[in-house]
Amino acid sequence: TLWKPLLGRHALVTAGPTHEPIDPVRYLGNRSSGLQGYAIAEALAALGARVTLVSGPTNLLAPAGVTLRRVETALEMEQAVRDALPADIAVCAAAVADWRVTNAVTSKIKKSADAMPPSLHLVPNPDILAALSAPGPHRPSLVVGFAAETDDVEANAIAKRKRKGCDWIVANDVSVGTNVMGGTENTVLLITSDGVEHWPRMTKTDLALRLARRIARRFGAPALS
Ligand code: C5P
Repeated sequence: TLWKPLLGRHALVTAGPTHEPIDPVRYLGNRSSGLQGYAIAEALAALGARVTLVSGPTNLLAPAGVTLRRVETALEMEQAVRDALPADIAVCAAAVADWRVTNAVTSKIKKSADAMPPSLHLVPNPDILAALSAPGPHRPSLVVGFAAETDDVEANAIAKRKRKGCDWIVANDVSVGTNVMGGTENTVLLITSDGVEHWPRMTKTDLALRLARRIARRFGAPALS
């Protein structure tokens, strides 16, 4: 596209899962593919933004025109996000692990028939979206979070927007059967200070383009006819 409404803006996007090590060969992880976040990074770049994509482990290639910072853990993601600031726009699409293992070890844990299975001690990971949303000199002027819900999507997403302090929430229903996690399509609600928009089911690529155009409009670009 020749329409570059986001020229001069820096956008920070998080994507993918995080992996939280247990030992050198094992980790806690989740089913995030990174597809939606990578598509958003690409769409923002296509509209002229300078884009930093901070990604957990995925099988995806860096989108064209995007600076990719690969990380493994939530703590690494938090640091990479900090290093990427300041940004005008932040879109947190990563599925950050809620907990990390405090008793991770550097040698492979042996299984033995008589010993007790190991216990994992978990502590909460930092909430990157909430930290980005907190008032301060480096707060991006637009912070967008995601909410993957299986029940009461709208009510939970409205509550999440308040709790996290972000400006927008893109909420999707990830219950079994929707095929959103790992799939190529998504059906979302966009929650803003103005209310709730129901977007039709579309591919993650189309959703990314629509969200990027919506962001451009928020930064003053006239609507595309
Ligand atoms: O709290 P919950 O994980 O449901 O919130 C999802 C949103 O918060 C997503 O935008 C996700 O990227 C972000 N998040 C984060 N850091 C965390 C947990 C979630 O940035 N530790």
